[in-house]
Amino acid sequence: MADPIPVHSARSPVFRRSFLKTFPSAVRGEGVYLWDSEGKRYLDFSGSAAVNFIGHGVQEIPAAMAEQAKQLEFVHTSQFTTPIAEEYAQELLDFAGANFHGGAVYFTCGGSESVETTLKLARQYQVEIGQTRRYQVLSRMQSYHGSTLGALSVSGNKRRREIYLPMVREFAHVGIPYCYRCNYDCTDGCRNCGLEYAAELEKAIESADGQAAAFIFEPVSGATLGAVVPPPGYLQKIAEVCRRHGVLLIADEVMTGMGRTGRNFAVDHWDIAPDILVTAKGLSSGYAPLGAVIATKKVVDAIASFLHGFTYNAHPVSLAAGRAVLGYLRQRKLVQAADSGGKDTVATKLERSLSTLLDLDTVGEVRGIGLLRGVEFVSNKQTKKPFAPELSFAGRVTNAALKRGLLVYPIQGCVDGVSGDHLLIAPPAVITSEQIDWSAQVLKEAIEEARPQ
Ligand SMILES: Cc1ncc(COP(=O)(O)O)c(C=O)c1O
Repeated sequence: MADPIPVHSARSPVFRRSFLKTFPSAVRGEGVYLWDSEGKRYLDFSGSAAVNFIGHGVQEIPAAMAEQAKQLEFVHTSQFTTPIAEEYAQELLDFAGANFHGGAVYFTCGGSESVETTLKLARQYQVEIGQTRRYQVLSRMQSYHGSTLGALSVSGNKRRREIYLPMVREFAHVGIPYCYRCNYDCTDGCRNCGLEYAAELEKAIESADGQAAAFIFEPVSGATLGAVVPPPGYLQKIAEVCRRHGVLLIADEVMTGMGRTGRNFAVDHWDIAPDILVTAKGLSSGYAPLGAVIATKKVVDAIASFLHGFTYNAHPVSLAAGRAVLGYLRQRKLVQAADSGGKDTVATKLERSLSTLLDLDTVGEVRGIGLLRGVEFVSNKQTKKPFAPELSFAGRVTNAALKRGLLVYPIQGCVDGVSGDHLLIAPPAVITSEQIDWSAQVLKEAIEEARPQ
C-alpha cells in the first residue's frame, strides 16, 4: 500500500523545505546572534549551514552592496565586464595562493552552480587539449557537492540522491577515509590506510579506461560525514594519482573555503595543488548569493571560449558583498582566529570545549579542524552502534538545543547513508570564548534531554 499522503500542518505561500514543521520567522542578526519575530534570541553555533563566517549584521557589507547597486546594478557577462569583477577576481586569486597565479575566477550564485560549472569546465578542458574521450568525473561515496542534477551525480549522499537516481548520470564513487569507522579495520588511527583509499581511486581511474576527466572531493568532509579530516598522506597521494593519470583534481571548498578551517583554503593544510577549486558559502558569508570556480593557469590557458553561462554570473551586487567580506575577514584576521593549531584562538577553545561532550555516553566522536566540527552520536560507545534512524536522534538534539536558543546543524546517514546521527558545528569566527562555553553547556543539556528514556 502506498504511504498515506502527509498532512500539511504548516501551509505557507512560500514553498518551504518542509510543510511538516513550523519555522520561526527570522528578523534580525548581529554577531553570532539571530532574533525571530517573537523576540527570541538564537546563538548561531552552525553559521546557519556553515555559511556565516564574519558574523551577522556587519554594516560594511550592505553598505558596499548598496554603493555598487547605486552605481551599476547589473550587466550581462556576454556584453560587459565590470571593475568590481576584475578587481575582486584578482584578490581571490591572490587569496588562493601561488598555485592559482595567472589563473581566473568564474563567478556564480552558489555552491551547486559552481560545481555544475566545474564539471563542464573539466570536460571542455579535456576536449580542448585533445583528450576527447575523457568526460567522467569520479568522486567519493558519502560526499555532497550540491543539489542540481550534475552535482548530485557526483555526490555520494544517499538520502539526498535516492529518488533522483533514475535522472542522474553515474560515474564511479570511491571509498572515503572515515577513521572512526575505517573500512580497513586499521589499528593505527588510519596512519597508513589513507594510501589504501587512494589506491581505490587509482583503480577506478584505470577502470574508466581513458574516460576519466576529473576527480572531485571535499578536503574535509562537510555535511555528509560531519567534519571528517583526512589521514596523513591521503590527499597528497590522491593529487599524485590524478596528476599521473591526466585527471583534473577539483577541490570542493564550498564549505571549507575562505578560512573556515584555519587556512585560506583547506587544501593548504596538506600543501596540495588542485587544478580547480570551488567555493561558496563563506565567500559572501551569506550576505548575497555567491559562488566561485577558481581555475589554475593550466586550465584557463586551454580555453578560448567557455561553452557555459548563467544570466546572473558575476552579479555586481553579489561581488560587492564578496569583496567586502574578503576585506573584512582579512582586516579582522579571522582566518587566524579559525586556526585550531594556533595559540589561544577561538578555534582551539572550540576544540577543547566540544571535547567535553565525550563525557556523555551518547557521544561517540568529536572531530574536525578549525571552526568546522562534527559530533557523532552512538547508542553504544563500545560497539559504536548508531541510534535507529527512526529515532532521529540528531533531530531531537537540534530541537532541544533550539528550545534553549542554540542553533546546530543535524544530519543523518554517516554510517551507511541511512543510519548514523551527527551534528555539524561551524560558528562565525567572531564567536567569543564565553559564547563557546555557553553553547557547549547548552548542547550538553540538549543531548541529555534527547537521550531515549
Ligand atoms: C561541499 C559542498 N559542495 C556543494 C554544496 C552546494 O552548495 P549550495 O547549497 O550553495 O548550492 C554544498 C552545500 O552544502 C557543500 O557543502
